[in-house]
Amino acid sequence: MATDTLPHAANIIGAAVPRIDGPFKTTGTARYAVDHDFPNLVHAFAVQSTIGKGRIRTLDVSAAEQMPGVLLVLRHGNIQNVFRTFPRQQDGSMAESRPPFEDENIYYWGQYIAVVVAETLEQAKAAASAVHADYEVEPPDVRTDLSVDFDGKRESSWKRGDPDQALASAPVVIDQTYSTPVETHNPMEMHGTVAVWDADNVTLYDSSQGVVSFRTVMSEVLGVPRENVRIISRFVGSGFGGKLSPWPQATLAAAAARQLNRPVKLSVDRRMMFSNVGHRPRTQQRIRLGATPDGKLTAIRHDFYTETSQLDDFVEHCGEQTPFIYSCPNLEVTTAMVHRNVGAPAPMRGPGAVPGLFALESAIDELAIKLKMDPLELRYKNDAERDEGKNLPFSSRHLKECYQVGAEKIGWKQRTPEVGSMRRNGKVVGMGVGAASWSAARIPCTASVELCPDGRVCVRCATQDIGTGTYTLFAQVAHAKTGVPLDRIDVFLGDSSLPDGPTSGGSMVTSAILPAATAAVNQAVTRLLNIAAQTPGSPFHGAPPDSLTIADGRVIAKDQQPQVVGVALHAGADLTANGLPFEEVLKLANLSGISATGRTFPSFEDPKAQKYSLHSFGAHFAEVEWEPEIAHLRVSRIFSIFDCGRIINKKAGANQILGAAVMGVGMSLFEETHYDKHFGQPINGNFADYLVATCADLPDLDVTFLDYPDLIVNEYGARGIGEIGMAGVAPAITSAVYHATGVRVRELPVRIEDLLQSKVLEV
Ligand code: MOS
Repeated sequence: MATDTLPHAANIIGAAVPRIDGPFKTTGTARYAVDHDFPNLVHAFAVQSTIGKGRIRTLDVSAAEQMPGVLLVLRHGNIQNVFRTFPRQQDGSMAESRPPFEDENIYYWGQYIAVVVAETLEQAKAAASAVHADYEVEPPDVRTDLSVDFDGKRESSWKRGDPDQALASAPVVIDQTYSTPVETHNPMEMHGTVAVWDADNVTLYDSSQGVVSFRTVMSEVLGVPRENVRIISRFVGSGFGGKLSPWPQATLAAAAARQLNRPVKLSVDRRMMFSNVGHRPRTQQRIRLGATPDGKLTAIRHDFYTETSQLDDFVEHCGEQTPFIYSCPNLEVTTAMVHRNVGAPAPMRGPGAVPGLFALESAIDELAIKLKMDPLELRYKNDAERDEGKNLPFSSRHLKECYQVGAEKIGWKQRTPEVGSMRRNGKVVGMGVGAASWSAARIPCTASVELCPDGRVCVRCATQDIGTGTYTLFAQVAHAKTGVPLDRIDVFLGDSSLPDGPTSGGSMVTSAILPAATAAVNQAVTRLLNIAAQTPGSPFHGAPPDSLTIADGRVIAKDQQPQVVGVALHAGADLTANGLPFEEVLKLANLSGISATGRTFPSFEDPKAQKYSLHSFGAHFAEVEWEPEIAHLRVSRIFSIFDCGRIINKKAGANQILGAAVMGVGMSLFEETHYDKHFGQPINGNFADYLVATCADLPDLDVTFLDYPDLIVNEYGARGIGEIGMAGVAPAITSAVYHATGVRVRELPVRIEDLLQSKVLEV
């Protein structure tokens, strides 16, 4: 979009605005974490365990230490002053609770056992391969069946009514188990850290989704005061949840840099991405549904296992949406955590909701088939009017309308229910639907806005833009409130020394930053107008400040305000009529700038917001084409209809749902991290063997936002968008696969050997 066609101040909120940081990325001037270089910088390379469980008997580093350029081989025994963080504390903790090199035990394949630091990367790599470990080897437990030998505790997280009694007496019952595999986050930018010490201060350039909590965590890990730690992540090549907390490479880079008193760079390579920096854990979920013959749900049981590492208690909360998506009097959700010899799991896009709704929505489809009912009819019949889990009204829920709009778009009316009954262009066609939901909140945020003497507006907040459009959002607010064009607005993010901003997680940044940014810019403008009215020599001197306003970046009398904003004012025109650029006001008042800070009051402290259940909703409609003669399946259409409150940037918003739908296709058809059962190595840990959905795998994707403002969440009515887009894709696809082929896939991803069971043999 050319700049001159950009929407103006009056309608920029809600418009499709291109990213203001786009040119930095497309011209290669954006610097990501490991792009940073410093004089005297040295390179580190990690040595990984080649066993999945056991103990290091001896670690022979003598050859490596003699190699050219080698400065340090960091390992158990010589790493200094690294500490544990308190697990799962509110303001952040390490993603892996055990600090690297704490002992000689091996808990998973790929665990770092040493780090070689050398003058060049090549020297570090060469020396790393010369480090030799001798192990006491034990067989790792990477079994994919999570229920075998389970002797842990099963916890009940939600319960209402008597689900067991209701299931026992239900006329129609579904009882099925669904599994989702380990999926690896594959952001384009891999993890990596550049650590620079200056006396007692350390700066870490890292790829982080939350520089503020990163600072807290690293201050505890390194044992240095918080004010001595600075984290910088100005650009992040996506995170998908994998970058919410610091990983061991940050600790190792910082420790090595401190011990050598030189800047250290440590990158995680693509293969290490599969073992050392988190994954979505495997889940195994038993769903039991009870219903009346006419399709009213009487019972829901959702009992699941969730895999985690040996030392970390990570839970994939699969049952989070189960209590409130459907109306049902009897319900229970239980969780069982299962330890395996794998690296620590981490949140991955739509954690909990994505695997959880795969299971629940698949079971709903199976129930509809058993009842000989249209799957949408079953959903309408059981739609929840209020959150029956929390017993609260929803702030805003339009899920039924998502279904209606999607049904219209995909042509659901033409859908015939029998398996393999729909044909088009020599292919069998199947259609399926899946619901999505994700929680909303208004989390704390601080932002400052400065009117600068050069006529530019500067916005500052420590929150980071992980590729979602956060830079642009701040600029939209500043533009909407001042009329200063976007190319004269500078937004500074991703630096823990800026005013505290939220972690980019849980799809909550947009709703968090809007109130803070608005309050800051409004206050800066109020100060400007007061100064314009008070400063001798100002054309507005003596005017009541509330008779003034700002338009197009100029102070102007309200009654002179041009009706059509954005129309250029002719030169030499009367100043009071045409206004005075704000930088001229600063000059007259001898001010170097006017700044103000705004804060977002969190919804969890807001009595009004606490009276509601805050959630976004949506639905994906998927269509597949099946060619039985050649066993070829393709996702042919996806329509995504979302109720995420008011959309602030239609372009960035749609991007989020599109990207998430692509990840949903990957989850449905391709993605699974496989661990070798003898050594626990992720054997497909590379882009050749771990398949992600590419453009060639995808149909045209179609995103619709209902755009109902949710004014409980903030004054703009915006909720979050990111995570929700991945929920509901997989059940929509597997239900479409069932409709086309008659094969119900309950263990993702869909494999060709599953489809070969199809009885639909020809078109
Ligand atoms: Mo999201 S998985 O909280 O980045």
